Amino acid sequence: MATLKTDPVRLERFLTEIAAFGATKNGGVTRLALSDEDRDARNQLKAWFEAAGCETKIDRMGNMFFVRPGKNRALPPVLTGSHCDSQPQGGRFDGILGIIGGLEAVCALNDAGVTLERDLIVVNWTNEEGSRFTPGTTGSGVFAGKLDREAMYALTDREGLTFGGELARIGYKGETDFDPRPLHANFEYHIEQGPVLERQGKTIGVPKGIVCLRWYDVEITGVPNHAGPTPMNERRDAVYAFARMASEIFEIGLASDNVVATVGEVHPSPNSRNVIAGNLHFTIDVRGWDETETDRVCADIEKAIRTHAEVTGTTVDIRKTWEVERAPFHPQLVSMIRETAGELGLPALDMVSGASHDTVYINQFAPSAMIFVPSIGGRSHAEVEETSWADCAAGADVLLNCIIKTCNDPEGVEYA
Ligand code: GLV
Ligand code: MN
Ligand code: MN
Repeated sequence: MATLKTDPVRLERFLTEIAAFGATKNGGVTRLALSDEDRDARNQLKAWFEAAGCETKIDRMGNMFFVRPGKNRALPPVLTGSHCDSQPQGGRFDGILGIIGGLEAVCALNDAGVTLERDLIVVNWTNEEGSRFTPGTTGSGVFAGKLDREAMYALTDREGLTFGGELARIGYKGETDFDPRPLHANFEYHIEQGPVLERQGKTIGVPKGIVCLRWYDVEITGVPNHAGPTPMNERRDAVYAFARMASEIFEIGLASDNVVATVGEVHPSPNSRNVIAGNLHFTIDVRGWDETETDRVCADIEKAIRTHAEVTGTTVDIRKTWEVERAPFHPQLVSMIRETAGELGLPALDMVSGASHDTVYINQFAPSAMIFVPSIGGRSHAEVEETSWADCAAGADVLLNCIIKTCNDPEGVEYA
């Protein structure tokens, strides 16, 4: 079948309009999970998908499923989508591009008057980022049976508000679950969030999978005291202990060939310029393709933290708060993405996803693969995050044509 194209003007309009929800003054978005901005973006998505003829289902985690019926509704459907929450001062493309790409695919199919064999479902997974409520990918994790719904409802943000309470407050706590399993295939379309595609001059990234991930929360306890009279050699300073730990965590990451380590959040207490901090809470994010090397790096980090606590006279509590194994994608779907890019005349590159995505969980029970487009300057999780409109449309074209291929797979065809 000849390839079909999305409408780049409409795609740009959708992306520009949705970026207004939580827009920051420097061109990014702050649309934290279950915030008012998240709710407003959800309402807009629902309106657009329903105007495009889709039916909306909302499950007990607030995951939103937009269903475009196929000819044979008994066949396993094809799923696509991503997330509409963002990091604080995050970018306009992370996550939302995958949902809008799915919306544009629906609109392009409508324009062409095409009814596919199978249902197409575009999903908005709740709380992918894990910034306000930890861990992330909670919507997809519960859907996959890997995270416990009640435990996720009980998560609290830094203000003490609960996930369950906030989900109900924004009006997205569904009363029943929607379960379209078994899924025939799952595609997630996303920006690369790194520098590889741009540096190699390629338009479409074809990841073979997603790296594994470990998250830690660390609590340092020292002795709070006055910044003036307390002699330097008598201090048990939580900030000093932290500075030594953070520095070594960076060095351990730097020394590893393929594992990265990040200290992202730091909360000293009482956080006052003339008080020696008595407490400090910080987070660590460790990722790599090689699980053994990732665990080796984690062990080195834990050892370094304990050593620095001892040397600085502080005590430390290290908690591993999240662990996800790496996700190798389905080889046939990965090849389909590469071939589809070729059919569209788009240069493609095989790679690995260094960022995590909801597909890390969906991949555990459904044949899955992802489509990447370049991030300008390799920047993401920042307001400057940017992808050219032409590249956004190119990725949407690959997604659309992979949807057509898989949604038209006849009964009996399976990606086993
Ligand atoms: C999510 O965006 C992540 O990779 O942490
Ligand atoms: Mn994302
Ligand atoms: Mn993200």
